Amino acid sequence: MPKITIIGAGFVGSTAAHWIAAKSLGDIVLLDIVEGAAIGKALDLSEALPIIRSTVTVRGTKDYKETKGSDVIVITAGIARKPGMTRDDLLKINTKIVADVAQQAIPHSPAAVVIVVSNPLDAMCYVTLKSSHHPRKKVIGMAGTLDTARFHYFIAEKLNVPVTDVDAIVIGTHGDTMVPLPRHTKVKGRPLLEVMKKEDIDEIIKRTINGGAEIVNHLQIGSAYFAPGAAIMQMVDAIINDTKKVLPCSVWLEGELGIKEVFLGVPVSLGCDGWEEVVDLRFNKEEMAALEKAAAQVKETIQSAESLL
Ligand code: APR
Repeated sequence: MPKITIIGAGFVGSTAAHWIAAKSLGDIVLLDIVEGAAIGKALDLSEALPIIRSTVTVRGTKDYKETKGSDVIVITAGIARKPGMTRDDLLKINTKIVADVAQQAIPHSPAAVVIVVSNPLDAMCYVTLKSSHHPRKKVIGMAGTLDTARFHYFIAEKLNVPVTDVDAIVIGTHGDTMVPLPRHTKVKGRPLLEVMKKEDIDEIIKRTINGGAEIVNHLQIGSAYFAPGAAIMQMVDAIINDTKKVLPCSVWLEGELGIKEVFLGVPVSLGCDGWEEVVDLRFNKEEMAALEKAAAQVKETIQSAESLL
C-alpha cells in the first residue's frame, strides 16, 4: 500500500486525508505540531473507514519518524488566510514553518514526491526546494488544480451544464497573476470562446482569481478546504497511480517555455517520480505575456522569502 504523509492536520490537511481515504489511495499519516489534532482527526476518519469500505489505515502523530518511507508528502502546515489578509501577508510566518517542516520530513522519505499547499504557494514551493535540496521534479505546488476546478465550476454553473461537460485549465500564480485559459477551455468539446459571451468569460475569470478570497469573506474564520482537499487528492492520485495525467501545477522552471528560475503554474504530466515534462499548449503572445508577468511577480515574492531563510 502506498504511504501518504500529510503535514498539517487542519482544515485542508484533514479534508485531503478524507478524500484520499475515500479513494483508497494509500495509508495516511497525519502529522501536526498539535498532536491531539492529528490523533483525534485520524481516529475519527479511521472510524469512518468501515462505512466507506476503505482498507487504508490513518494514523495521527507529531513524530516525524512515523512518516518514514512515504511515497508522497503533502505540506499544508502553516496559518491560513484571515479576512483582509493577502497571501503575501502570510509569507513571514509560513516561510519559517514550511522550512522547518521540509527539513524535518524529507530526510525520512528521500524518494517522496512533495506536494506543497501552504500559502503563499509559489514562494512556499521555493522555501521547500531550497531548505531540503530535494530534486526539483519532486517538489510540486498545488494551486492550478484548485484554481482550474473553480474556473471549471463557474463555467458549468453559468451555462447550466453538468461539470462533466466542461474541460478547463488555469495556470500562472495562485494570486492576482493567475492565468485562466479560455482559449484552451472546452464545453462539450467546443471552445469556450464560441459558447459564452466575452463579458461573461471576463466576469468568471475575475471571480476565479478572487475565488479564495470569496470563500474567506463568507467564512470569516479560516479559508477554503473542500476544493483544496480534493485538488490535493487529484494530484496524489496521478502520482501514486503513475497516470502521467496532465495537470496545472507549480514547478521550478529552468528554461521550459523560455522561463527560468521561478516556481510557476504550468501544465505538467504527473507520475510516480514527480512531474515529468511541461506540456506546451502552444500559448499565444497574450498568454505568454501573462505568464511572464506572473513569473516576474513570483520572483519578487521568492526574493522576499529568500531573505527570511
Ligand atoms: N508543524 C506541523 N504542523 C503545523 C506547524 C508546524 N510547524 N505549524 C502549524 N501547523 C498546523 C496547525 O497546527 C494546523 O493544524 O498546520 C495546520 C493548519 O491548519 P489550518 O489552520 O486549519 O489551516 P488550513 O485551512 O488547513 O490551511 C493550511 O493551506 O491553503 C493553504 O493558505 C492555506 O497556508 C494555509 C494552509
